Amino acid sequence: MWLRCTSRRLLTPFNRALKHGRLNASSWSGKVAAVMPEAAGFQGVTDRATLQEFSHAHSDSFWAAMANHRLTWTSAYDTVQDCDLRRGKVKWFVGGKLNVSVNCLDRHVLTCPDRVALIWERDEPGAEVKVTYRELLEMTCRLGNLLRRRGVKKGDCVTIYISDALAERIRDANSSTVITVNQGVRGGKMIDLKKTVDAAVDTCPNVRQVFVAMRTETPVVMKDRDVAMEEEMAHEEAVCEPAAMDSEDVLFMLYTSGSTGKPKGLVHTQAGYLLYASLTHKYVFDYHDGDVFGCVADIGWITGHSYCVYGPLANGATTVLFESTPIYPDPGRYWETVQRLQINQFYGAPTAIRLLLKYGDQWVHKYDRSSLKTLGSVGEPINTEAWEWYHKVVGDGRCPIVDTWWQTETGGICIAPRPSDPDAEIVPGMAMRPFFGIKPVLVDNEGEELTSKSASGALCIAQPWPGMARTIHNNHQRFIETYCQPFPGYFFTGDGASRTEEGYYQITGRLDDVINVSGHRIGTAEIEDNHCSAVAESAVIGYTHDIKGQGVYAFVVLKKEADITEPELRQQLKDSVSKSIAKYASPDYIQIAQRLPKTRSGKIMRRVLRNVVERDLEGLGDLSTLDDPTAVQEIIQGHQATT
Ligand code: PRX
Repeated sequence: MWLRCTSRRLLTPFNRALKHGRLNASSWSGKVAAVMPEAAGFQGVTDRATLQEFSHAHSDSFWAAMANHRLTWTSAYDTVQDCDLRRGKVKWFVGGKLNVSVNCLDRHVLTCPDRVALIWERDEPGAEVKVTYRELLEMTCRLGNLLRRRGVKKGDCVTIYISDALAERIRDANSSTVITVNQGVRGGKMIDLKKTVDAAVDTCPNVRQVFVAMRTETPVVMKDRDVAMEEEMAHEEAVCEPAAMDSEDVLFMLYTSGSTGKPKGLVHTQAGYLLYASLTHKYVFDYHDGDVFGCVADIGWITGHSYCVYGPLANGATTVLFESTPIYPDPGRYWETVQRLQINQFYGAPTAIRLLLKYGDQWVHKYDRSSLKTLGSVGEPINTEAWEWYHKVVGDGRCPIVDTWWQTETGGICIAPRPSDPDAEIVPGMAMRPFFGIKPVLVDNEGEELTSKSASGALCIAQPWPGMARTIHNNHQRFIETYCQPFPGYFFTGDGASRTEEGYYQITGRLDDVINVSGHRIGTAEIEDNHCSAVAESAVIGYTHDIKGQGVYAFVVLKKEADITEPELRQQLKDSVSKSIAKYASPDYIQIAQRLPKTRSGKIMRRVLRNVVERDLEGLGDLSTLDDPTAVQEIIQGHQATT
């Protein structure tokens, strides 16, 4: 994770936003007003559909009302937006100034200082640490003061180290300060992060100092450039004047997972990102004051940024930082945590759901999950079996499942089942409806927008929104080429999607994961989503085929208790795909694997699978973002046995 230092802070009055015109909710009666008071006063808005139309037709008024209502400004902006998607120009709330930490902390300290802001759910179960808003503000001030005393200025880039390939990122970001811990702890294992930082920083002459926090008691060698972070923070004042940041100053940079090519440093800025994270956190998850929000994503992932940190804290929520894994010390960990912390909204990844499904229902039933109200899913398509299990077993059939589609690039959730309407229909495995202000369009190969209701094509977004990334650090041209040029005038997401008659969206997967077999386009996700009770997880890729162009190659991981022979399994899978899609989609090869190669954020590295299947082992490239690189060797051996 990369953080642009914005750090100087102080308690300030938070009612400045009100002078910019908080809207009067009483002028709007009815159901929609009750669930979205920010929209009160919008002419002609009577329900969700008209609100969505309003957000497109009067985009500036819509986003201005949201920004005035939800953010505390130091000084008012003069222009709501200055965007031109054709040129990759995206600016929101131009001329405004605010401070993100004032929005996330100070204003809540004024109203509820003793509310728990975050619960650090440590790797060791039952050892959680609760930090109130007052305490978190004090810690933030001490760290802000320390950074300042050590010469970090507004505009400097500070690297917070959690992931690999560190040196390349430090150099790309031109960071002079790094923050790390002596050791990381995950699933009962210690990881020597400081050693990795030492090796990386030795090759980065720009780094002046490394702040080292002590996560464990294991001492580490401290070099001249190292600073004992907690010790130094203890000497700092617990009050620090907040800097007034421009709306478009950089907030953070985040490098994408590396599942495609060279990682891109996507840049997010202050006001628009914060507004979008706050609004989506509130309405997609139906968050209410006092709820405990449990997003179990890695904090170094965009999901952790938007829904562990910025969204929940901007809304004054109690947010959970989950340090462990779904199966440590046993496969009941998530649900034991839900019971102990009384989590109301649980937000996780399909990959973890599929893993847990494999271990059976008893691990869920063991714990009381009655606090749960909403269950969220993110990062990849959730297959029907996992969706049903999440809904029926985890949520006892009473919690809506919100399958949220978005990307590092979008900053926050863009398509999800229930923005604001608690009674809206949800179809299993579908992301469903665009969020307010998001105008998805489907485009064909020639760049023509598909205007019929039911269609499928490349998923683009037709209007800019405040949460979108502004650029790729040091490479704006690549930003334009990747997102703006493929379909001029639209933001291109890189995903394929289909739309039903009702206007519901379903994501079919990355377009680079779409395969073409004998002229038929098939989303790999469609094949993966086939029912076979013995399979816990699968990944399908295309491989070069002399006659068909591409053939289908499937990797499957079986459930622990699966009781089936390999020939039976292969037959069952082929039959199931032939029946649900078509015979041409039926896999040519089915490789049974112990596990799939994944990034630490749980994304299957299809690039690696493709390389193995294409026998291009030299092209395997950078495997540093893999959770466990030994999985690749297993896959290579299994491939030899399969073909
Ligand atoms: O292909 C889509 C998939 O994940 C991609 C974005 O990955 P990343 O930037 O790492 O962000 C993940 C967390 C937001 C998308 O282009 N994706 C994400 N959510 C879904 C999804 N695919 C299907 N359904 C989803 N709910």
